[in-house]
Amino acid sequence: MKITIISGSTRNNSASSKTSRYLKNQLLEINNKNTVDIFDLSEAQLPLWDESLDLTTLSAHADSLEASDAFVFVVPEWHGMAPPALKNLFFLFTGVFRHKPAFIVSISAGTGGRYPIQELRSTVYKNTYLNFIPVNTIIDRVNTIIDEDGNYIGEKQFVANRVDEGLKLLLEYGSAFQVIRKSDIVLEKRFPNGV
Ligand SMILES: Cc1cc2nc3c(=O)[nH]c(=O)nc-3n(C[C@H](O)[C@H](O)[C@H](O)COP(=O)(O)O)c2cc1C
Repeated sequence: MKITIISGSTRNNSASSKTSRYLKNQLLEINNKNTVDIFDLSEAQLPLWDESLDLTTLSAHADSLEASDAFVFVVPEWHGMAPPALKNLFFLFTGVFRHKPAFIVSISAGTGGRYPIQELRSTVYKNTYLNFIPVNTIIDRVNTIIDEDGNYIGEKQFVANRVDEGLKLLLEYGSAFQVIRKSDIVLEKRFPNGV
């Protein structure tokens, strides 16, 4: 199974990037036969969606996302919202998330991180057909929990336990959704823009 971790910050040396590295290590520790990619929005330099954009120039990214069975979204809270570059992703890449599960990990240097979860859950699923699993994890005071190299440095296992629960469930959903994507009703693609 291929899992793609989307690091939702466009800042260099972001907390989202180091959190993504930690999550990648955790996923491989659970099952090292899986392929785990990090799609870091600070490195991808994606254009802001525009009607005149030639989307075929992004086909390498699109193919990689299409080949993924499950996603982890690492989302920092910026001004009480998900970063605009993350919302932009759903304009640039339509169809690649269809009937695939996703685990949201939201982060904050302080004690924020709640609003991006609600934002993604409220709207993103409709046209993408992305399935956010019921478990999400908020990492408050992220700089005291994960270091620059993606190591867990939290004093307690509180966050680690919740991440482990989310990742293990994501893998189970990932297997189940492989079956769902082969079903007649999914293959029919009756409502390409959501119902
Ligand atoms: C533009 C901007 C807006 C922010 N707004 C919030 C906020 O609303 N709530 C919050 O808890 N933290 C906020 N922060 C602080 C972030 O939690 C902190 O900078 C974190 O490291 C951001 O993640 P990143 O490093 O992955 O970009 C904001 C940071 C930036 C850069």
